[in-house]
Amino acid sequence: MAPRLMVCDGCCCGRMEKGNDVVPIDALKAAWEKHDLKEHVKLSISGCLGPCSMKNVSLMMDGSDRIWLGGLGSNEHYDALVTWAKSIANGGAMSDLPIELKDHQFEAKEA
Ligand code: FES
Repeated sequence: MAPRLMVCDGCCCGRMEKGNDVVPIDALKAAWEKHDLKEHVKLSISGCLGPCSMKNVSLMMDGSDRIWLGGLGSNEHYDALVTWAKSIANGGAMSDLPIELKDHQFEAKEA
């Protein structure tokens, strides 16, 4: 099974009225299409993933491996998600995060 990237656009993530930045869903989907990533990393726009307080959360899952990211907001962050997926598509390790995302990783307690 290909890894899956879940990008939260739920009750808090992406909600400007809650002080979060908009999640560029269309741009992400377009980038997945353009770079032919969907066979390699499944992109899902999800509802609430749980840790809302981490603001604009994304979760990369591969089997039992999980990498949680929070505090995403700038185009640079979302471009880095695309770069990360491209790297995985080319055989790179999921743990090999682009520099722009390294400080955004957090550990979440799974429900
Ligand atoms: S709305 Fe994104 S984690 Fe809850």
